[in-house]
Amino acid sequence: MKIDLSFNAAQFDDLQLRDKTIVVIDVLRASSTITVALNNGAREIIPVASIESAVKISGSLFGEVTLRGGERNGQMIDGFNLGNSPLEYNESAVKGKSIIYCTTNGSVAMAKSRYARVLIVGSFLNLSAVVDFLSGENKDFLIICAGRLNTSGNFSLEDAVCAGMMIQKLMKNESVEVILSDSAKAAYALHKSFGRSILKMLKNSEHGKYLAEIGFVEDLKICAAVDSVPVIPIQIESKIKLRIKEELAVVSV
Ligand code: MLT
Repeated sequence: MKIDLSFNAAQFDDLQLRDKTIVVIDVLRASSTITVALNNGAREIIPVASIESAVKISGSLFGEVTLRGGERNGQMIDGFNLGNSPLEYNESAVKGKSIIYCTTNGSVAMAKSRYARVLIVGSFLNLSAVVDFLSGENKDFLIICAGRLNTSGNFSLEDAVCAGMMIQKLMKNESVEVILSDSAKAAYALHKSFGRSILKMLKNSEHGKYLAEIGFVEDLKICAAVDSVPVIPIQIESKIKLRIKEELAVVSV
């Protein structure tokens, strides 16, 4: 299995990503928030690339079964029901709801991956579940790190360290042969340098410091909790849903 990695999504358009197996990582906070939301019973997350698309898609169902969630500069967008803190996506807020989801980098990377063969959402919260899924697939894949807020998606340490931790776990699995691109090797090395305390790394990251400054320090603890929410958000017909193993089983007649 060849693992390739991009430190942001800016270089891609959706046709370049067609038919690939993709893991989008946005540790702070889109990937973590989506994972929490689905685990708390959200029906589906529909990632969009702009606020205009979010408003258009939510249409007449807005406010009942359909909510708008996401952020600009880390804060809730005017006219939206939810911001981007995983704490907001609790059961009473999201159970049974479709959430049209718009964030600065994470949802953009997911929307660009709409024609992927497989798109899954990865974070520290579901790290081992994602690694098990990828080992089972045993196919080449691309990790897209969504990048840092307020910088047009520049390199973000936390996404790279999370990717590096996934790569390290995959390499430990003797039943898969792993070949790394140069960028995947770099993420692996960053995990070795910065992966000892995930919370400390998040607190010292630029994005982590910014989130703490604007009042979201608690989010860092949630986003640092490795394997705390062992589920797989996966794209099914342009929507991100919880992967249910049985759904994918082939029925033989
Ligand atoms: C993003 O998509 O850039 C983020 O998830 C920003 C955030 O921390 O809310």
